[in-house]
Amino acid sequence: MASFVVGLRRFLGALALMLLAHQAAAAEPLAFVGRSGSKLVVNGSPFLFNGFNAYWLMNVASEDQVNVSKTLSEAAAAGLTVCRTWAFNDGGNPALQSSPGVYNEKMFQGLDFAVSEAKNHGIRLVMSLINNFKDFGGKTQYVQWARDAGEAIKTDDDFYTNAKVKQYYKNHVLKVLTRVNTITKVAYKDDPTIMTWDLMNEPRCPSEPSGQTVTAWVKEMAAYTKSIDSKHLLQVGFEGFYGSSTPDKIGLYNPGGYKYGTDFIIGNQVNEIDYTTIHAYPDAWLPQKSEEERKTFLQQWISSHFNDSVKVIGKPMVFEEFGKSTTTPGYSQKVRDDFLSYVYGMIYSDAETSGGSFSGGLLWQIMGEGMKSYYDGFAIVLPRDSTTTAVIKKQSDAMAALKNRLSGSRH
Ligand SMILES: *[C@@H]1O[C@H](CO)[C@@H](O)[C@H](O)[C@H]1NC(C)=O
Ligand SMILES: *[C@@H]1O[C@H](CO)[C@@H](O)[C@H](O)[C@H]1NC(C)=O
Repeated sequence: MASFVVGLRRFLGALALMLLAHQAAAAEPLAFVGRSGSKLVVNGSPFLFNGFNAYWLMNVASEDQVNVSKTLSEAAAAGLTVCRTWAFNDGGNPALQSSPGVYNEKMFQGLDFAVSEAKNHGIRLVMSLINNFKDFGGKTQYVQWARDAGEAIKTDDDFYTNAKVKQYYKNHVLKVLTRVNTITKVAYKDDPTIMTWDLMNEPRCPSEPSGQTVTAWVKEMAAYTKSIDSKHLLQVGFEGFYGSSTPDKIGLYNPGGYKYGTDFIIGNQVNEIDYTTIHAYPDAWLPQKSEEERKTFLQQWISSHFNDSVKVIGKPMVFEEFGKSTTTPGYSQKVRDDFLSYVYGMIYSDAETSGGSFSGGLLWQIMGEGMKSYYDGFAIVLPRDSTTTAVIKKQSDAMAALKNRLSGSRH
């Protein structure tokens, strides 16, 4: 009896390996995504995609790999081909970097697994290197480390100018980019599964509103990042706020007409930056406005940035974060589906008329079933939210068809 069970286990194990090998072989081998003028390109043809955010991959993978595999597999089935995730977790518990230069190997192996599984599912990654906000440490943790080391720090915004803090950041960039994946044995900087490095999630600098300070930081860090890794795309992680180089646009387009300490134009003109990004949360940004006014804001936000991206900056654009929270007054799944369809329609139309300069969108965000501790109101669970999955799949198919059409493929 016992030997029969062992035999059966062996047989099932071998079968599972064969199925895995088959799945890996079925996924299109990934090539590096590059840039040519105002288009992202892969193998010489415009690269278009539909994608998603899943900031939690490393954290969850370090304790529960099955959830990561399952969610990536569900995302791949919905035609999603790019995923943005965090390659940082500073000072918390458990942290990736518990104190400057001290790394938790178990957490890094979680990130290794995320990269390896993304590859197995034909999904490319955008990896963000630090947070502007306190979640998972962020610039607050970096300046605290410097303060603890005796630096005279006034505000969190000293992150962009203090020499010691800048060195901490560079050390982290070096550590992540030169990491050799324990599963694939490929260094991150040589792995085409990674599409892009994202300097920071949503940089802001309220203490110096012109945008000059953040732009100087982008210049220095973009040059440093590309000096280690020139194979990958690089972007800033901007939400898109206009700054002092376009004073008229601050009033016209910035939510509330405020200055946020970034400058969409000059920040993205930095030579080493490959594409521009926008994020948009009109429900949170314009709480006093009606649904119709928010829709108009969104349409103008996309249109104005896309025009600037192509005509002024000369680079492609990605709509890197958008979503609909269940906490929005009047929320229903239908409201979310209609919102996503509205955004997707604009992305597709601009992608089509520009011949691929609008590369795609990354919705915020996809999660797995049972991951309740990570739910944030925006969570979409693909097998559960079937009408939303249909909307997502439709956009994935449309972008894939457009990509094929633009590359002159006969598929
Ligand atoms: C962007 O350019 C298009 C085409 O030139 C124009 O119709 C549209 O009004 C512009 N959008 C904004 C917000 O300026
Ligand atoms: C993984 O999924 C299971 C079952 O769906 C759930 O119980 C568990 O909490 C999840 N793990 C994490 C780390 O979210």
